[in-house]
Order: sequence, then C-alpha cells, then structure tokens
Amino acid sequence: MKGIWKYKEFWPEVDPVDLVTLGEGNTPLVPSVHLGKEFDIPNLYFKLETGNPTGSYKDRFAASALTHLVKNRARLCLATSSGNTGAALAAYSARSGLPCFLVIVDGAPSGKVNQMKGYGAKTLMVQGFGIDEVVSEDVFRSLKQFGLGMKSEVQISAYSYSPQGMMGVESIAFEIAEALPENCVKVFSPAGGGGLTLAIGKGFLEWGERDKSYRLPELYCVQPEGNNTIAGALINGQEKANPIKESKTKISGLQVPNVIDGNQTIEVCRRLNGGGEIVMDQQVFELQKALAFKEGIYCEPAGAVSLAGAIKARKAGVVNKSDSVVCVITGHGFKDPQSLQRMIKKEEDYFESIDGATKYIIKNLAN
Ligand SMILES: Cc1ncc(COP(=O)(O)O)c(C=O)c1O
Repeated sequence: MKGIWKYKEFWPEVDPVDLVTLGEGNTPLVPSVHLGKEFDIPNLYFKLETGNPTGSYKDRFAASALTHLVKNRARLCLATSSGNTGAALAAYSARSGLPCFLVIVDGAPSGKVNQMKGYGAKTLMVQGFGIDEVVSEDVFRSLKQFGLGMKSEVQISAYSYSPQGMMGVESIAFEIAEALPENCVKVFSPAGGGGLTLAIGKGFLEWGERDKSYRLPELYCVQPEGNNTIAGALINGQEKANPIKESKTKISGLQVPNVIDGNQTIEVCRRLNGGGEIVMDQQVFELQKALAFKEGIYCEPAGAVSLAGAIKARKAGVVNKSDSVVCVITGHGFKDPQSLQRMIKKEEDYFESIDGATKYIIKNLAN
C-alpha cells in the first residue's frame, strides 16, 4: 500500500474494494535553500502538501472520507467547504461514483470553486457562511440534520463532524516522524477551525505510542490575526477557544469564526509542548511571494501562514538555531488566482520582435 494507506494499521480496517484513492500522501519534505538562511532558521523544512492530487492536504481527508462513505453505502457526498475540501471531495466523489453537493463559503476563490465544478460537483454558495458566526453555525447544524435524513454524514474537515475523514490527515505526522525521526523538531501548522493541527498532533501522539523511543515534536498552531480563535487562547493560557463574531482575515481556508475543533487543538498543542502564533495577513502575502521567488514553492496564502508563524517564533526565541523546523505548506497557488495578482508586478511583457525581448533581458540583468 502506498501514500496514506501505508499507515492503515493505525485506523479501523477497510475492505480494499471500498478504497477510494488517487495516490494521495507521501508528499515531499524539502529543506529550505534561501529563506532558512534569511530568517536564521538553518534547519528549515517545507512539507509540500501542494503535491497531492487536487493540490492540498485535503486529499488525505477526502480519500478517507469517501472510503468510509462507500463502506457505509452512502447515496451522496454532502459537505461544506471554503474551497479545498470541496475540490478534494469533488474529485474523490467522481472517482467513487457518488454525486457531490457542496455548500461553500461566501467569497471562496474562483480557482477553488471552478475546481469543484470541474470535477462535476454541485456548488451552493450561502451568504455570510464562513464570515458570520451565527450564519456559519446555522449552516453546520442544518446540514448535519439534513445529512442524517439522507443517511449520509455531512463531511466537514474536522473531528467534531467527520472523524473518519480526519484519520487520513494524521498521516502528515506519520510521514514527518519517519522523515525526521531523531531531531528536535518544531512543527508549524496553519489553522482555521483547528482540525488540521489537531490531526497532526494526534498523529504524533499515536506514533509516540507505538515507538516509545520517538522524541515527540513541539506543535504550533498559527492563525491570522483576523481569525484568532485558537492561537490567542494558547498564548494567553486559556483552555477554551474563542469564537469571533466576524472573520476579518482575507486568507481563504482560514476564515472560520466558529470554534469547531479549537478546544481539542489547544489541548494537543499543550500536550506537545507547543503553542500558538498570531500573524498578519500582509506578512503572509509577502511570504507567499518569497516562497515562490526564493524557494520555487508556489502556494496559496494559507500555505504561507505556517512560515510566518515559524519566523515570528524564531524572532521571539521560541525556536532555537539548532531546531529542525517543519512548516506545513497546505495548498497550491493555482487555487487562488486573485492572490497571484497581488504577488506579481504588472509589467510590459509583450514585444513586437525578439530583438526587443533580448534588449529587455540585458537591461534587467544589468539592474
Ligand atoms: C489550505 C488550507 N490550509 C489550512 C486550512 C486550515 O484547516 P483547519 O480549518 O482544519 O484548521 C485549510 C482549511 O480549509 C486550508 O484549506
């Protein structure tokens, strides 16, 4: 078995005929070439979840979720999404033959919405969903109820809704544990509702249960200031996450005003001696560009949030120079064309002849 299924002994048994897979998981863990030096983190690594079949870590979720839907003979895949879950579920639904209905966050990036539609899913955008706490809660509650009636659990990438799907996400931790077994590792994970960070934390703890010699890494939950439900609570020593009335961040995927998995995420970060980091949208956009320009890593803004957190932690002395630091780069840049427009300068790039083009190269090399 390959990819996430290599770790199937960690999960309840599934019949191989029910497996829905596109080769998800086993993503690269690459060392930094330039940014580690620039920010004085010599052992900086990027876990490139962009390498999954639909371009984000949510494929690990979707593979596991659809496998269980097929196992339970569900008639449809019903889900909510800010974009990546929807794209992943749409692809894996297509593969399994189940129709897919997705209630999506208001203002989800066109790249993600088109991707969902491109796999044949039906998308339904609900006003205020993902921005307003009350509307979002209503969507989650109503769909949960509706799903029960349809004998198909609503798929939301969080343990509080879809624990079976989330088991697949734990494989991120297993892969990091296998790749960096002995170092003192600090892992930075971006968070919206917290499910991803919780899955990584649970994965490390499960790995540590089986291999008592494994030195558990520290886990840090990173959130943008405009959606600080978990990270601030971690910093302030609170036990519970704080729901917010309205999500103010512009970072797609991390706009989750509700607590969802927040309380358990706080718990798991504490158990792993980690903490929380709060970062600014603008800094994240700059690092998204730096990852592309200086490392060749093309990610969506949410993917750069972990790096923003690691840099902040290094400046504060939470990360030492000798630490191995892993930033989880969660989603591909292709998914968010609007964020790309922010990254690239508008410049003349159409020439009437090759002569003009070569003159341009010489001039720019000289500068
Ligand atoms: C690219 C990306 N990164 C991170 C997250 C955060 O995941 P969670 O809401 O489980 O914290 C999401 C969620 O949609 C996402 O799409």
